[in-house]
Amino acid sequence: MKDAQPKAIYLKDYRQPDYWINKTHLSFDLEEEFTIVSSSLELTRNANAAENTPLVLHGQELELVSLHLNDKELTADDYSVDDETLVIHSLQQQNTLRCVTKIKPQDNTSLEGLYRSRTMYCTQCEAEGFRKITYYLDRPDVMSEFITKISADKKRYPLLLSNGNLIESGELDAGRHYAVWHDPFKKPCYLFALVAGDLACVEDSYTTMSGRDIVLRIFVEEKDLDKCDHAMTSLKNSMKWDEDVYGREYDLDIFMVVAVDDFNMGAMENKGLNIFNTSCVLAKPETTTDAGFQRVEGVVAHEYFHNWSGNRVTCRDWFQLSLKEGFTVFRDQEFSADMGSRTVKRVEDVSLLRTMQFAEDAGPMSHQVQPDSFIEISNFYTLTIYEKGSEIVRMIHTLLGPELFRKGSDLYFQRNDGKAATIDDFISAMADASGRDFSQFMHWYKQAGTPVVKARGQYNENDQTYTLELEQKLPSSASAKPFHIPVAMGLLGEAGSLPLKLQGQQTNIETEDNTHCVVEFTDTKQRFIFEGVKEEPVPALLRGFSAPVKLQYNHTRDDLVRLMTQDDDGFCRWDASQQFAVQVIHEVMAALVLEPAPKVDERFINALRGLLADSSLDPAMVALMLQLPSEAYLAELAVTVDVDSIHHARKRVERKIAQALHDDFMRVYCDYDHDRPYRATADDIARRSLKNIALHYLMLGTDKEAISLCERQWLNATNMTDELSAFSAIVHSTKSSLEELKTKAINDFYHKWRHEALVINHWFSVQASAPGSNTLMRVKELMEHSAFDIKNPNKLRSLIGSFTMRNPINFHNAKGEGYSFLADRIIYLNTTNPQIAARLLTPLTKWKRYDENRQNLMKAELERIKVQPKLSKDVYEVVTKSLG
Ligand code: TRP
Ligand code: ZN
Repeated sequence: MKDAQPKAIYLKDYRQPDYWINKTHLSFDLEEEFTIVSSSLELTRNANAAENTPLVLHGQELELVSLHLNDKELTADDYSVDDETLVIHSLQQQNTLRCVTKIKPQDNTSLEGLYRSRTMYCTQCEAEGFRKITYYLDRPDVMSEFITKISADKKRYPLLLSNGNLIESGELDAGRHYAVWHDPFKKPCYLFALVAGDLACVEDSYTTMSGRDIVLRIFVEEKDLDKCDHAMTSLKNSMKWDEDVYGREYDLDIFMVVAVDDFNMGAMENKGLNIFNTSCVLAKPETTTDAGFQRVEGVVAHEYFHNWSGNRVTCRDWFQLSLKEGFTVFRDQEFSADMGSRTVKRVEDVSLLRTMQFAEDAGPMSHQVQPDSFIEISNFYTLTIYEKGSEIVRMIHTLLGPELFRKGSDLYFQRNDGKAATIDDFISAMADASGRDFSQFMHWYKQAGTPVVKARGQYNENDQTYTLELEQKLPSSASAKPFHIPVAMGLLGEAGSLPLKLQGQQTNIETEDNTHCVVEFTDTKQRFIFEGVKEEPVPALLRGFSAPVKLQYNHTRDDLVRLMTQDDDGFCRWDASQQFAVQVIHEVMAALVLEPAPKVDERFINALRGLLADSSLDPAMVALMLQLPSEAYLAELAVTVDVDSIHHARKRVERKIAQALHDDFMRVYCDYDHDRPYRATADDIARRSLKNIALHYLMLGTDKEAISLCERQWLNATNMTDELSAFSAIVHSTKSSLEELKTKAINDFYHKWRHEALVINHWFSVQASAPGSNTLMRVKELMEHSAFDIKNPNKLRSLIGSFTMRNPINFHNAKGEGYSFLADRIIYLNTTNPQIAARLLTPLTKWKRYDENRQNLMKAELERIKVQPKLSKDVYEVVTKSLG
């Protein structure tokens, strides 16, 4: 089947498997040159399948050594093999199939299946990696009990782990040993895991709500033992939270986490044996930023929560991926909100969604949260499946309220425990528990694209009514049907939120003082009339970002200031500040065409000054509002992205703020208690972010003193948040007087942290995202650096990913040098690690958004990639969809 074009798989073609696998015995003999995998599968023919139905197993890159069916050795006539399948004829109702394969994990650079990371063996089976280990029914609706034996050299691999409980272990000849693990819970093979290596361990325990003691172990390299506390605390907090909020208790007696350096994603929820990218588990103040601490907490929680939403209830097929991912992201977001600052968490999540997911949904890879088809499932672990999927679950939560939502989730877990379920199963549990109709709501899963909601308000002084008119514009498809959109809102008067009384219609008015409500917007155009409105209000719409839509409302700048300073909802206050900033930047973009140094609206700067002066405000809010919308977000808002204009206008506004508020920033910076010992609490994180944003602005000004403050912070910092803020302020500075300091900072930082791989990732990414014009040259130079490793995804993301995704002005260089640089790397990675290659392609796929010159340059690179020999399914799908 060489050179045949990869084919799409369709949801409508789903049918049950012809055989079930009740029990799976696996035995791994790990040798340095190869690994022998022996399996014994107990197969039962599906009652729906005819008697002579052949068994079609998945398998890739396997060397078949032997096959026995019901103890009889099979010969070439009894089966057929190709690159992707093994077909066995004439099975009985009940069968035992024994299969021996030989694989080479040491040569496996794709990081799926069984592979080596540094000195250890580990696995990554989701979504379809198990087929690179042995022949199997590699699909999530085949759930089996696993018994796994591992044998290996005892000196090199003293630790042998798999899912479930250890049931046996012992010595073997020639310095080898073995361990046998049994997982009593049936699971699909994508949740299988194996680890063998020489790792140290931190141990703790947790007593569940029913009084069972669970052993908790985190395995890391010896040198990282001092970086496990935060992950362990996060794990225990997650276990407690899932009991308190969802009534979900852990089921096995042991829960293990293993940290590995080479990993394609953040982490993986394998039953009882989660495998983590080191970047998502290791943390200590000296080496980890605040964002890093929060990431560890969130990912530990995410993987732990999968034990119920993903493992106990799994997905019937990969079209249901958002069933586990959307729900689990919603759960981890809510957990993090409860652990830290709810508003800050919401702002961060919405920022990511509006910047990245909206862009994805407006591009050629746009897809439904429940897709109809795919070529390579690895390409569908997207912001749409995860983040938009979570927003959909959040809307259900908003529509039902916490009690009915909990009733719905209880019913969902109760009905589907031990099963492979669908998104429809989830929704029907929510519908049945609440008595509500979700048929229109289902469009959120089946219609791709971001709806636009236009809002207009009309105050009638005589009637004391306020009429809100909402209109939804659907994503382009002709057959699109209106969405069921929960709009959380209030009406803001001069002295705060006004009491609400909605004419005729039903709504849930939530607060005791009736100042907050959720209106359900279900028609293409709909009116909501509020009565008894004593003054002309400013509407506060989409509080908490209650739906993933693009809201359009013509707020005046005075309205925005009122919202910024007075709304009850932190998200709306922040959003108003962003809208104000966007208006101001757009104004400067337009003016820059005519003059080099246009004015910046004083009202905006005054509003920011007001924030800085008001010590009663939450420093977290102030820090968030001082951050101008990113270049990526401004690009997302544009019709045609003008990279240079966005960059220069944004910089111009930043400089103006820096100048005008210099004294305020200096005061904020100096007021900060620089001797405060590090804690990763919401409060302290907020203080540090305010202090460091002040430093950022100070470094944009002309004040010499700022440079020495920054230098001092860089030298004296006792935590990575402060150290990295100062380091990047120096490296990103465009002042020519700083060249010497810059070089020194880059060298010293490397020297100081050269033994900490995760800190060196920051060293790469700060340099790769520098705005200076020699950055691409520097990135190419860094690819030759001894600390760079093209086989390691974290290194690729921090050097190449930072350059292509966080440095628009340089990546989109008008000569196309950034594009050809990226295409060259993708062509290389296509053979070594297709998953990462396809992911790194993302910025090139957005070509339609740019000017004609850039469009042509980007398209040419995509065409060049497309004609490479042996294109992986991963890269093939992304390239053809973005050109087609
Ligand atoms: N299920 C994992 C999660 O969301 C995602 C994941 C980890 C993954 N590794 C992967 C997906 C490799 C595809 C390929 O937590
Ligand atoms: Zn997940």
